[in-house]
Amino acid sequence: MSSVLIDDIGELVTNSPGEGEAGPLGIRRNVALLVEEGRVAWIGPTRDAPAADRRIDAEGAAVLPGFVDSHAHLVFAGDRAAEFAARMAGQPYTGGGIRTTVGATRAASDDELRATVRRLRAEAMRQGTTTMETKSGYGLTVADEARSLRIAAEVTEETTFLGAHVVPAEYADRPDDYVGMVCGPMLAAAAPYARWIDVFCERGAFGVNHARAILACGQAVGLGVRVHANQLGPGPGVRLGVELGAASVDHCTHLSDADVNALAGSPTVATLLPGAEFSTRSPYPDARRLLDAGVTVALATDCNPGSSYTSSMPFCVALAVREMRMTPGEAVWAATAGGAAALRRDDIGRLRPGARADLMILDAPSHLHLAYRPGVPLIRQVLHNGVPQCR
Ligand code: NIG
Ligand code: FE
Repeated sequence: MSSVLIDDIGELVTNSPGEGEAGPLGIRRNVALLVEEGRVAWIGPTRDAPAADRRIDAEGAAVLPGFVDSHAHLVFAGDRAAEFAARMAGQPYTGGGIRTTVGATRAASDDELRATVRRLRAEAMRQGTTTMETKSGYGLTVADEARSLRIAAEVTEETTFLGAHVVPAEYADRPDDYVGMVCGPMLAAAAPYARWIDVFCERGAFGVNHARAILACGQAVGLGVRVHANQLGPGPGVRLGVELGAASVDHCTHLSDADVNALAGSPTVATLLPGAEFSTRSPYPDARRLLDAGVTVALATDCNPGSSYTSSMPFCVALAVREMRMTPGEAVWAATAGGAAALRRDDIGRLRPGARADLMILDAPSHLHLAYRPGVPLIRQVLHNGVPQCR
């Protein structure tokens, strides 16, 4: 593989603060970065830059680690635009529309699902996302959950089994049987394609006992734990996640002091999904409270056809700054290093020698512009594993 030198970088966000660098973003100015074999090989002053096979002139722009979107649901068919319009006219979001997407997904061919996954993955990449987790959860049969994960695994190694998204209509009057199926044949069929297991622990979806049983079954076959928790109201999901050593509890919109204290004393990341609050007209999570308590916070899109049909991490960064009182630096860290922490990865989300060369060059001089210029396509170029991506 050839080497690439990016030089004349005006501002490099490393997320690896060292001596003489202020703040957690570890910002370095007026540097060059050498990529070899898909990894960052060297960072230093432009005048000392080594020769390389290819040179990219950043022209004084900012360079950041690629976004790590640690929460998305890309395997689905159809859309729910009419449901969105009804919400904007005052209807509440209840999660009831999930079953609509389940019907459309079951009826779709593999190639239709694959086309949607690839379209959304490419859309996200153009907006700077170099790692994107994706979940099953719209199949809810053994075969449909397994194929959802098989198709997801074609575009990402961060795949999550969400057979416990909701109880499907055919099991509505026997949820215990559905949980037994999720823990038995469905998990067996899904596990070869999954790294993680997730449960929607919420009133109307899965209660704490079912959620604990399902997550424990996943752990027993080697899957890591993540939880959809405290999205629509207060509940036990966050504390269950902490109890089970979850890598991340996601949404965290309705938190008690006990939830915040449990997170603060744990390695579990709180992943906030402001696209969902935007698109459901719900109150945003209290990011300040979590950050001030010392909780590690990540930002992700929750890209799905119901509650948050955006693949844009820059949009989520802008929402976090404007609506959740995160500083621009905190939001950029949460969307990069925070996402990496939520996926328990130390090879991404940072730019330092040895890290994966997953990065973006902005059409702007500073990371501040991501929130300062919302809705503007500011991602000039993306490198994934050191390879410049086509636009
Ligand atoms: O994370 N909350 C559960 N699942 C998704 C929404 C799924 C849907 O509405 O289709 C979420 O918001
Ligand atoms: Fe979700």
